[in-house]
Amino acid sequence: MKKVEVAKNVFWVGVVDWNVRNFHGHTYTTKRGSTYNAYIIIDKKIALVDTVLGSFSDELIEKIKDFVDPAKIDYIIANHVETDHSGALPEIMRHAKNAKVVGTAKCKEGLYRHYYEDWDFQVVKTGDSISLGEKTLKFIEAPMIHWPDSMFTYIPEDKLLLPNDAFGQHIATTERFDDEVDQCALMDEATKYYANILIPYSPIILKKIDEVVKSGLEIKTIAPSHGIIWRKDPMKIVNAYIRWAKGLPLKKNILIVYETMWGATEKMAKALLEGVRSVGCEAKLYNISTSDRTEIIKEIFDAKGLLVGSSTHDNNILPNIAGFLDFVKGLKIKNRIGASFGSFGWSGESVKIIENILRESGIEVVQPPISAKYIPSSDDIKSCFEFGKNFAAKI
Ligand code: FEO
Repeated sequence: MKKVEVAKNVFWVGVVDWNVRNFHGHTYTTKRGSTYNAYIIIDKKIALVDTVLGSFSDELIEKIKDFVDPAKIDYIIANHVETDHSGALPEIMRHAKNAKVVGTAKCKEGLYRHYYEDWDFQVVKTGDSISLGEKTLKFIEAPMIHWPDSMFTYIPEDKLLLPNDAFGQHIATTERFDDEVDQCALMDEATKYYANILIPYSPIILKKIDEVVKSGLEIKTIAPSHGIIWRKDPMKIVNAYIRWAKGLPLKKNILIVYETMWGATEKMAKALLEGVRSVGCEAKLYNISTSDRTEIIKEIFDAKGLLVGSSTHDNNILPNIAGFLDFVKGLKIKNRIGASFGSFGWSGESVKIIENILRESGIEVVQPPISAKYIPSSDDIKSCFEFGKNFAAKI
């Protein structure tokens, strides 16, 4: 098998998961698959940085055997507890009987609560390091990027950062490096990854990047635990993270997301879109029932405005838009304005419910909302058009 050398004597031993289509339960769709990256470092001491999803344990062990007998591993660096990176750890530990697991205090606790094994564990914190011989492993705690246990490992001799989930992308490819793949697909997946996983932790991410910059850490390569390794232009993804983490909309677009029972709310959505377009504002429209939420969330970076609609059903909003709003609420997105719309038969609670959720999500709500009884009349459609136009003017 072709060996993938990330730096001198640092090799990729990860696996490509071509067929995964849902991640984190069903909270994230992975239409391009993913990879679980692990790295073996061959020095006087042998270190493995991260493992892979448990179902790929055998493949990881076979890949390690291309470089070294797994029994000879001295250290297994556990940058993160989540099972897509630690799932193979129990199997590796059966082979690497003398290995010490290295991670943060939260990692030690988290791994125990996953596997209930009393492995030899070395707790490390920011500033700690381990010498492997010619190379040094330095550790940087990165709590809540994106779990409390998260940690980055840095090899100063190679200027190589191994930040686990940070700077990753869910993309399955035959190639491993940023200079070998389609840039549009790469950045599309990196954007989606940040939007769906990391937005809530943006203030922490900005602080961490600032801390790393101020510490004078030189970075030549960033090798995350998912997707492509950034060796040609690692600052491309760092700068993108700074842009995304600042929370400012990158464009002045409007995102219209709705759910409709019999098409009435959809008619309103399309009239709103026409109104928005009439003043030259760019917009995207999604029926949440037939769209991929993971893809819609990615659009939030370009959207300054969010128009959310639902028919009223059982004095409530429809279930798919409720799920979408619940997800938006968790993002704690800033600097956005929103409004609600929807059709109703007799009670009409949907618009108020949506408004409340938007407000709870930190979105400034433009009032009053717009609603229509049963099927929107031509006057209702005109009102929606005007509503869209006025909303766009506020953007
Ligand atoms: Fe890729 Fe947080 O696991």
